[in-house]
Amino acid sequence: MGSKRRMVIAGNWKMNMTPSEAKNFVGTLYEKVKNNRACDIVVCVPAIDLPIVAKMCAGTAVKVGGQNVHFAKSGAYTGEISADMLVDAGAKYVIIGHSERRQYFGETDETVNLRTKAAIEAGLTAIVCVGECLSEREQGITEEVVARQTKLALLDITPEQMKQVIIAYEPVWAIGTGKTATAEQADEVCKLIRNVIAAKYGKPIARATVIQYGGSMNAKNAAELLAMDNIDGGLIGGASLKPDDFAVIVEAAQ
Ligand code: PGA
Repeated sequence: MGSKRRMVIAGNWKMNMTPSEAKNFVGTLYEKVKNNRACDIVVCVPAIDLPIVAKMCAGTAVKVGGQNVHFAKSGAYTGEISADMLVDAGAKYVIIGHSERRQYFGETDETVNLRTKAAIEAGLTAIVCVGECLSEREQGITEEVVARQTKLALLDITPEQMKQVIIAYEPVWAIGTGKTATAEQADEVCKLIRNVIAAKYGKPIARATVIQYGGSMNAKNAAELLAMDNIDGGLIGGASLKPDDFAVIVEAAQ
């Protein structure tokens, strides 16, 4: 087995933590993970928490990300946030196309692609989420669904820009349900994603691309998942709100 890519462990706080709560939380979290330099650590926080969290994490090993980005530079898009705004607030990463956004906010493969392009152009690293829902897995079309989502997300993304893309494989049935994909199931789909990237960009780029697993990753199962050949980190929801558990996951990525 060749050496794997540098792992990226990213917390997805979702709609949790007021700015005051975030301030307390990040201080505790930082203390627990500060000695870890072996992987990249990211916390993707609600937009309103970005300034305080970015300020507290400045100069530390913890990087900050947003959870969504609009594709327009600016304009009449009430409630949305632009890539430049995220960057100015201190974000280096942004989650795009999370299944909750696809499910509840009308996100489509097309808007995922547009948002990904906007994020990259602003200098952010895009964490692009793909994943099948339970009925798709039961119908045996996981590969088809994930390959399609990956290809459409990467439309018009150049080989050079792939350095700013992370793919997060998040089977929808595993998110927040406590049902984790087995390490083999997760690795199999991450490998498929890598093959899709190889077919479009060639093997060196596919080998260099970080592919995370997400969906009920926790302190107990992280080590097994992260040991798989094609899994280069995690996108972690619930467990990222528990500093001890998040620290164990970061530890597992060493
Ligand atoms: P979970 O969420 O870890 O709570 O399952 C993962 C995610 O939605 O990114």
